[in-house]
Amino acid sequence: MQQLSNDLGLTAIDIENPREIRNLLGQFATGVTVITTRGKDGRKVGMTANSFSSLSLDPPLILWSLAKTAPSLSDFTSAEYFAIHMLAQEHHQLSGHFARPAEDKFAGIAHQQCAAGTPLLEGALATLLCRNVNQYEGGDHLIFIGQIEQYQQRAGEPLVFHAGKYRIASEHPDVLQTA
Ligand SMILES: Cc1cc2nc3c(=O)[nH]c(=O)nc-3n(C[C@H](O)[C@H](O)[C@H](O)COP(=O)(O)O)c2cc1C
Repeated sequence: MQQLSNDLGLTAIDIENPREIRNLLGQFATGVTVITTRGKDGRKVGMTANSFSSLSLDPPLILWSLAKTAPSLSDFTSAEYFAIHMLAQEHHQLSGHFARPAEDKFAGIAHQQCAAGTPLLEGALATLLCRNVNQYEGGDHLIFIGQIEQYQQRAGEPLVFHAGKYRIASEHPDVLQTA
């Protein structure tokens, strides 16, 4: 493969330095989601993910990626459904909770169970119940494609993640708001 010269002030990526790559990609501000499913053994499974993205309107598809080292990998690969919960700004502790391993991440967390058996958290800005339609290789992650079948949404302010920190979004002061 042809090697690019580092002109115009660009820095060559150092694939031996995951911290550098993480910091670089962390410049992209995202929302935060918790993604839930029903595990193979009937266990409720949930994890925090900011790799969520919209993908297609027709059909309505979304994507997200899961580290191949995640303990919940086989639960998500075998699940027929998963649910995406878009977190509100007050959910920063909930985000931290679902990013840490625990015996039962749902203990003490308000949730219900939909007909497909998928646990649904209460209070999210939006909840998307998705059929698990495709999975693709993506380096050290697996990319999941979901087709939205049912949803729920409410008004509220989103939780934002940027440069490794939780943030609060506000309207841009330079942009005139039309009534
Ligand atoms: C804000 C935030 C975003 C995250 N996004 C992802 C992600 O998109 N994919 C992923 O595999 N892990 C992501 N993680 C890490 C997982 O939430 C964490 O490894 C979790 O424990 C995995 O669940 P498990 O241990 O039950 O498999 C993120 C963590 C945080 C705090």
